[in-house]
Amino acid sequence: MLNLHLNQTLLFCFQNLVFGQKIESPNKKLSLTFAMNADGEPTYRLNLGEKTVIRESRLGIELKDKPAFTKGFSIFKTDTITVNQTWKPIWGEVKEIRNNYKELAVTLQQNSLSDRKLLIRFRLFDDGLGFRYEFLEQKDFQYFIISDEKTEFNLTADHKTFWIPGDYDTNEYAYSTSKLSEIDALKGKSVQEIGTKSVIGANFVQTPLMLKTDENLYINIHEAALVNYPAMHLKVNQQNFSLSSQLTPDAVGNKAFLQAPCKSPWRTILASNKAADILTSKVILNLNEPSKIKDESWIKPQKMVGIWWDMHVNTATWNYADINNVQLGSIDWKAVKPSGKHGATTERTMKYIDFASKHGIDGVLVEGWNVGWEDWAGNWKEEVFDFVTPYPDFDVEKLQKYAASKNVKIVMHHETSGSVTNYERRMDEAFRFMKKYGYDAVKTGYVGRIIPRGEFHDGQWMVNHYVHVANKMAQNQIMLDAHEPVRPTGLHRTYPNWLACEAARGNEFNAWSSGNPPEHETILPFTRLVGGPMDYTPGIFQIKLDVYGKKEQVHTTLAKQLALYVTMYSPLQMAADLFENYEKKLDAFQFIKDVAVDWDDTKILEAEPGDYITIARQAKSKDEWYIGAITDENARISEFSLNFLKENAKYVATIYADAPDSHWEKNPMTYQIQSFLVDNKTALKLNLASSGGAAISIKPATADQLKTLKAYKKGK
Ligand code: NOJ
Ligand code: CA
Repeated sequence: MLNLHLNQTLLFCFQNLVFGQKIESPNKKLSLTFAMNADGEPTYRLNLGEKTVIRESRLGIELKDKPAFTKGFSIFKTDTITVNQTWKPIWGEVKEIRNNYKELAVTLQQNSLSDRKLLIRFRLFDDGLGFRYEFLEQKDFQYFIISDEKTEFNLTADHKTFWIPGDYDTNEYAYSTSKLSEIDALKGKSVQEIGTKSVIGANFVQTPLMLKTDENLYINIHEAALVNYPAMHLKVNQQNFSLSSQLTPDAVGNKAFLQAPCKSPWRTILASNKAADILTSKVILNLNEPSKIKDESWIKPQKMVGIWWDMHVNTATWNYADINNVQLGSIDWKAVKPSGKHGATTERTMKYIDFASKHGIDGVLVEGWNVGWEDWAGNWKEEVFDFVTPYPDFDVEKLQKYAASKNVKIVMHHETSGSVTNYERRMDEAFRFMKKYGYDAVKTGYVGRIIPRGEFHDGQWMVNHYVHVANKMAQNQIMLDAHEPVRPTGLHRTYPNWLACEAARGNEFNAWSSGNPPEHETILPFTRLVGGPMDYTPGIFQIKLDVYGKKEQVHTTLAKQLALYVTMYSPLQMAADLFENYEKKLDAFQFIKDVAVDWDDTKILEAEPGDYITIARQAKSKDEWYIGAITDENARISEFSLNFLKENAKYVATIYADAPDSHWEKNPMTYQIQSFLVDNKTALKLNLASSGGAAISIKPATADQLKTLKAYKKGK
């Protein structure tokens, strides 16, 4: 066996591995071994100290009508570098991000194929690994079609897995928790409830995939910088605990059409002995390109209320009239009899503007303002919306003036109903309309099957569409919140106007399905949010929906709804309930008014996927902290120190907590609010009810508060 040190990397040869090279992460905890086996197949292995995270796993790409990039390789050259820099996101969970990694770039060549080359680039951070394929410009290799990606993630045992079914069209499932060997995506929770779905098969799951080993190792598998390539799902081999990439196909069954030089997205593996490290990891952001937007001054983290939950609880409708056959452009809407239930009226929008203005909320989202909602869903119809024609009872000009006079922005809604061809044709005009009427943010939606027919939400064509939209909006200084897109992969670093996405099962499911189980919000930060912020739409105060004649309810207490503003990171947060419900509980609404949407610092105080999460965040440029603590169906005591506060300073902590009798199902709407003096020596002890939570604001104490308020003392 040959062993030699080179640039702090290790080259070696084993009997059946003809070449190997090992690199260590900057703090030396993670190590990556790249090796070639006797068939000339490239492989990698990932270790955390002595523990194996990923055992020897093969890498490769299969091509249509061309020999594969899978075997028969030899090493052409390898290069290593170390990078250690910091950068400042324009908004985020922390004010500065360290980008510190060791890189190994391996250029492989296939001798039997005129030395055709493929580069595999690895970046090893202290908390995870990213690697990607780079297709070099070379003779006789320019246009190519990927028919399959052969990336393996071979695990060591039958780990506990937090999964949703692999599906090319949707990610709006509830999570199942099981051993890898027990995954059956066809029987996954909530599969029956999803309208547009394309479940791949029993043993396919989605990323970000969260795993926990019996040795308490936390592993997360996802991807970064998904551009011009289909989204990756994972095939689970239940005999040997091996995962392999499953790319989303296009309408004719191919995976990606590419032209060299080009590269795949990064495949990412986060690994740590601490669950909290998965939540704080910046690997995915670091693997994305820096912002493409030069002047970012117009991009604003924000809160919004809106005409939205009304439709989900059936107190109003998106559609204006009770007709069911609309052909775009052929209707004289003024002559149509309104149903009387339309939500997006001028009057109701003005009331929302008044409420937002009074309480310092930046935006009012209005859904159902534009013609087409009479038969918008389910027909795979191309011409549904034009994005510029309001219903007769929605006065765009009047509302523009009114909103401006109240210093509130109306947030545009572009539901495409999956007809993306139509949206792309009309987008320029839609953006001109927005600019003319003072809108600078839009919520897009992709409900239903995609047109071009046969394409999936997660395919290369759609991936390019979402990026195209973000890019075009950036040019027009428009902020974006996308619903039903492919799940995020950190592209908000490159397009910081892309504030948030849905791309998971949001709070809305509580209004009309079996709902989101109490553990749901303790899993999302470990899965979906690893790729980027989510527009979860928290803040439902009227938790029991019987007042609307509905049997459903939200599966949390009211205090947990408040805590979600901290635990579910997003620079765009909706206060999703009807404003009338907030007016009845202005004491609790105070937390939503106060809580920040942009942060200088984030501390994960406690976290366990599927069980509980407690996070403290410091508001941007302020000596103010906000804490959210949530639990699953198990009531629990959350205890933590406030040692992150400044030394020798007194603060007022206002605690919005469950009441002693709170319980998500039996008694979800009781809560208690108390204020105390605290400092950096204080330790808090909070009782969280079943699917309960606590939200805390911490601000410097005024002279008056120092005299009148009591110091915090731990209760039972
Ligand atoms: C689904 C979105 O998630 C929801 O927020 C929206 O109200 C409806 N589509 C209608 O566009
Ligand atoms: Ca949705």
